Amino acid sequence: MAVAAGAGDVDTDERFDPVSTWMGWQRYVDSAPVTADADDSGWSREQRLDYHSQFVVVSTPAMEKVSVQLQRMLLLNRRHRGTARRGLVVSGPPNTGKTTTLMELGRIFELADRRKHPDVHDRLPVAFVSVPPASTPKMLVSEFARFLGLPVLQRMNQAGITDAVCTTLCELRTQLVLVDDVHLLDTRTRSGAETSDQIKHLGERIPATFVYAGVEVDDSPLLTGPRGQQLAGRFKLLRNDPLPYGTQDQRQVWNELVSSLENALRLQHHRAGTLARQSAYLHRRTAGVIGSLSHLIREAATVAILDGTQSITKSLLDDIELDIRAQQHLLAPTAARPRARAVTRTRPQT
Ligand SMILES: Nc1ncnc2c1ncn2[C@@H]1O[C@H](COP(=O)(O)OP(=O)(O)O)[C@@H](O)[C@H]1O
Ligand SMILES: [Mg+2]
Repeated sequence: MAVAAGAGDVDTDERFDPVSTWMGWQRYVDSAPVTADADDSGWSREQRLDYHSQFVVVSTPAMEKVSVQLQRMLLLNRRHRGTARRGLVVSGPPNTGKTTTLMELGRIFELADRRKHPDVHDRLPVAFVSVPPASTPKMLVSEFARFLGLPVLQRMNQAGITDAVCTTLCELRTQLVLVDDVHLLDTRTRSGAETSDQIKHLGERIPATFVYAGVEVDDSPLLTGPRGQQLAGRFKLLRNDPLPYGTQDQRQVWNELVSSLENALRLQHHRAGTLARQSAYLHRRTAGVIGSLSHLIREAATVAILDGTQSITKSLLDDIELDIRAQQHLLAPTAARPRARAVTRTRPQT
């Protein structure tokens, strides 16, 4: 079970650089992992608050599935000379861990690359960008330039920036390009369609494996219609859904997830197993959405630190209100609740 977030020595005044910038990405990749047996006996209250604010990344079935598929794609593309390299699209509802999966796999890949090339510093194995809202092709390629720290001058046109970006990514031997929030590309608008063409163009010019993530993009214009066909023909779709709780196996997966998060708590008086015993309740509260589960546990931990009890109980969990989606799910009559889909499902390439 991967446990990989920064320790309690986080500086709250530290400058914020999003992971879609080179500096932010490097900082994320370098953040020291906390081990399950980290000694927190000397931690101050602030350190505990920081730790639970950041918390850990645990491995989920969807993450494992994407990881296996990604390794295969990287091998398939490694010596492929043509331009039709294969890639992945991760699609699902919000808050289900799509961005986290992209970031975590990117980090693992980059760390492995650094181990393979310990003394080489002019490499950039992973690039991570987010599609800006109402993106135009120039805005998208400028995001890549921003990630790379390339100066984008007002007078530079799209072709000029694209050239600079592609040359730099090729020189730095970037092998994995992660593009988040692709649902923001509305390919029905002219600029959205042109931006989608721009993404394809980058995919052809950069010898890397591309992974996209977005909210419910399965049937979106990004992958359908004449423009979406090309992408749909090369990319495999992986679903990232809320975790179901119907069968024995599904319950076991959920229970393990809850236990992993509970084991990562750093509260001095927490009774081990309290959350594990409340697994069914936690699923009801969160509808199997990892973002809501993580929020519930982290907020409960924060309250427990602030009130000095340093322990999470069922009544504390009851007192915490969750995000609007989770609250609406809880209030909906059981029959009206949308059924959680299978944990992950892949669609054969068309
Ligand atoms: N594998 C994970 N382990 C622990 N927490 C997670 C994991 N995946 C997601 N989360 C939590 O859920 C929140 C939402 O995840 P995110 O990746 O932003 O979802 P999405 O991109 O699908 O909207 C994150 O901020 C994080 O707190
Ligand atoms: Mg996201």
